[in-house]
Amino acid sequence: MTFSRIAGVGSCLPPRVVTNDELARQLDTSDAWIRERTGIAQRHIADESQSASDLALDASRGALDAAGLAAQDVDLIIVATSTPDFIFPSTACLLQAKLGVKNCPAFDVQAVCSGFVYGLSIADQFIRSGQAKRALVVGAEVFSRIMDWNDRGTCVLFGDGAGAVVLVAGDTPGIHASVLRADGSHAGMLSVPGNVSGGKILGSPYLQMHGQQVFKFAVKVLDEVGREVLAAAGASVADVDWLIPHQANVRILEATARRLGIPSEKVVVTVDRHGNTSAASVPLALDVAVRDGRIRPGHRLLLEGVGGGFTWAAVYLTM
Ligand code: UT7
Repeated sequence: MTFSRIAGVGSCLPPRVVTNDELARQLDTSDAWIRERTGIAQRHIADESQSASDLALDASRGALDAAGLAAQDVDLIIVATSTPDFIFPSTACLLQAKLGVKNCPAFDVQAVCSGFVYGLSIADQFIRSGQAKRALVVGAEVFSRIMDWNDRGTCVLFGDGAGAVVLVAGDTPGIHASVLRADGSHAGMLSVPGNVSGGKILGSPYLQMHGQQVFKFAVKVLDEVGREVLAAAGASVADVDWLIPHQANVRILEATARRLGIPSEKVVVTVDRHGNTSAASVPLALDVAVRDGRIRPGHRLLLEGVGGGFTWAAVYLTM
């Protein structure tokens, strides 16, 4: 039987750091409010010249180096993003060209903050079925471009960045199980409801959110989907070495861990430094914990995403 496993992880954060105090100079907010309600202290913001595919390229190079592979070895490229460079071509195709790779399938996944976990599960299916042997899965976002910087209820929460993994075929898992879920009836809870038509922007090009509803929904489904994926893998909560949930708000992370019965020392938290980077948040957190030596080969990880759509998803894997 063929399974997939992570062979390398990489990430990229734009150099510019924006602190809460800097935001408080332009908005009716404060460092104390943002820290207390979200746990966020700072976020990285891309400059105008940096697009999602640029951040994806740096993260991909890091993951390929860590895997000891060249870009030409990759036979599948999936990019999860809600802030693509263009309407089309896909950011995955632009990344493919920047990597100097030709011919392999390359496509974007649009599942907002669950996008990377969706992408990981899709790549796992390609590898298990023999359609791919070495897949690059990336989450890359420039959410700063879809923020209304006058809306203190949303703009303080998000940041830019990218994370990537190389997934390779092997005889042992790797990925034990994945669960993907969606419920489009909640589309209005978190959205960017604009579109481009006839050369004009129709509707709002800015992120809109019912924060408290999103909060409650996220904690509920992150608990449910975590339990579902562990059951599908024949594992239990006690088997989990590290929980990496989507990094939206430290209070959501704490509540999720508490509901699942996972101690807070086993939760990887980066939202304090990165803010919410949507599809990039899980692979960014994974890269931080791999590079600082917390996550080691053999450790069992529960990765979870939740975001607009609504979508939610989990993957249980051994590193
Ligand atoms: O990837 C998923 C994306 N989104 C999320 O995960 C977000 C989930 N939701 C949340 O994280 C929280 O609901 C928020 C952090 C967005 C808001 O925290 P909250 O504790 O739910 O606050 P709230 O919305 O109930 O607002 C409380 C007060 C309000 O003022 P009043 O009506 O009580 O006078 C807001 O206007 O805080 C005010 N407020 C702010 N004050 C200072 C809202 N944003 C700010 C701000 N600075 N940035």
